Order: sequence, then structure tokens, then C-alpha cells
Amino acid sequence: MADDEPVLRPLRETDLDALFRFRARLWPEGDYHRSRDYWDWNVMRNPHALSGQGPPVGLALRGAEVLAECQGLPAALLQAGLPRAASWCVELYTEPSAQRRGLGSRLVAQWISSAGIPLVMGPSRASHPVFVSAGLRPLGVLSSYLAPTGLLGLLLASFRGRGASAGPLPESRSISRFEPDWDPVWRAARGNAAHIRRDHAWLNWRFVEQPEVSYERLGFFRGGSPCGYAVLRAGADARCRLADLAVLPEALGGAAWRPRRE
Ligand SMILES: CC(C)(COP(=O)(O)OP(=O)(O)OC[C@H]1O[C@@H](n2cnc3c(N)ncnc32)[C@H](O)[C@@H]1OP(=O)(O)O)[C@@H](O)C(=O)NCCC(=O)NCCS
Repeated sequence: MADDEPVLRPLRETDLDALFRFRARLWPEGDYHRSRDYWDWNVMRNPHALSGQGPPVGLALRGAEVLAECQGLPAALLQAGLPRAASWCVELYTEPSAQRRGLGSRLVAQWISSAGIPLVMGPSRASHPVFVSAGLRPLGVLSSYLAPTGLLGLLLASFRGRGASAGPLPESRSISRFEPDWDPVWRAARGNAAHIRRDHAWLNWRFVEQPEVSYERLGFFRGGSPCGYAVLRAGADARCRLADLAVLPEALGGAAWRPRRE
């Protein structure tokens, strides 16, 4: 191996400064999603990380300098009700001067080998061929919808549209955190498809404690008991996005609204 041949290996704690120098070099304007504060929340406090497991980041290094990184984020998946370990690929970058030499492909292959079920959302034009040639299969395009009457109106109208069998409209109010009594709601509403597992700890981590992003959380109640929730995120353009939703099938008169992937 030539002396300046990059070395590929998992991130060690002592590489963190070099990793954040690499990120700052690639994004000199400063990107919160690549900051250390965001890392502390997203990686170190992630409730789906297996205890004792370090952050799953693969690095390509020349000496102490990072040339490329591939970061996976652990996710606990339920597939047909069975727990499966999964990992989102959340960062994949090769320093421009080191691109097209196979570093990205090798780091992706290493991530896949330890990911359990590897998941990717929104690959770039450059990374799409890397994932496809590593054997990942595109599942389709993620749709998004705009509700001109406002999202909350749409949610409530949909309760109304379920007919008399659904009973009176559930009461809705803002909730500041998810308590353990929301766990049965998600378990009953989730159905059998594959989902990222939710419970109150994950919901609080994702939708209450996430720095720099604020969500509105709405709880739906029948007779004082939780029967569903919706998490909304207001965009800078005054549009509101639905980030998560689970409603008990009974609250919809038998029809099921289930949480979708993010
Ligand atoms: C995507 C990226 C990480 C690939 O890294 P890399 O080290 O150059 O990857 P490889 O050398 O293993 O390239 C593998 C294949 O990917 C494809 N590819 C890589 N860069 C590409 C580009 N800019 N345009 C089109 N295809 C590209 C090619 O098919 C390439 O194979 P080839 O060189 O034999 O033609 C790198 O281009 C990058 O950092 N891009 C900017 C950031 C980005 O888009 N990240 C992904 C976010 S999801």
C-alpha cells in the first residue's frame, strides 16, 4: 500500500475533532445539522442507539485528516410486528479532491455490512448510483401534499367524514411532552407494515428535544383518554407539515390512520 493511500476504519472518539474540521471545511457557512450540538442530540442521546455501541461512522483518513465519511443513524424498526435493527445513512461525503476513487462506495459497503436493514432517504444525484450499485433497491418517491384549508382543519374534517359510527369528534389540545400513556395509542394504531418504532421516549427525543426545530404536538382525546396524536411543523413559508400521526382505529370508525415514515 502506498504511503498516502487512505485508510478506511470506523470512527474513534479521538477522531471527533478531525471529523468536525472536515465538516467545517466542506460547509464553511456553518450548517447546524453538521454541528457538534446537533451530533450530541442526534447521535449521543438517540434512544434507538444500542447501549455500548459507538456511533456507526466510517471514515477514510489520510494520516489524521478525514477525506470521506459515511454516517449511519441507528433506528429500531418493526417489520410485521418483529423488531429489526436498521440504520439510516444520514451523511455521505467525499472531499472533492478525493472523489471518484472508490472511497464513497467502500464506506457505503462497510455501513451496509453492519446496518441490519440499511435505509436511505433522498439520495443526491451523485450518491444514488453508489447506493444502487451497493445492492440497495429504490422503493419509490416520497409524496408530499399541501392542504389549502390548513392541516388541523383537514385532520378534524377527516374525523368528521368517518360517519356516525365514529361517535362525537375527539377533543384536541396541545401537549408539551409525550407521557407513557401515549405508547398504547401508537401500538394499536401502527398496523402491520414496517415502521420506525415509536414510544414516548422516542417521540420526546424526536419532536420535543430536537434543538433548533420546533414542532406543535396535538393530542386527541375521547372521554379524557388519548386516542391519537399529530405532530406538525410550521415551515418558514407559513406552510404546515405533518411530521407524524397516529390515531386509534376506533376513533375513526374502523378506518385506520397510521404513522408513516418521516
Ligand atoms: C456521493 C459521493 C459521496 C460519492 O463519493 P465518491 O468517493 O466519489 O464515490 P465513488 O468513487 O465510490 O463513486 C462510485 C460511483 O458513484 C457515481 N458517482 C460518484 N460521484 C458522482 C457524481 N458526481 N455524479 C454522478 N455519479 C457519481 C459513479 O457511478 C461512481 O462510479 P465511477 O467513478 O466508476 O463512475 C460524493 O460524490 C460526494 O461527496 N458528493 C457530494 C455530497 C453528496 O451528494 N452526498 C450524498 C448525500 S445523500
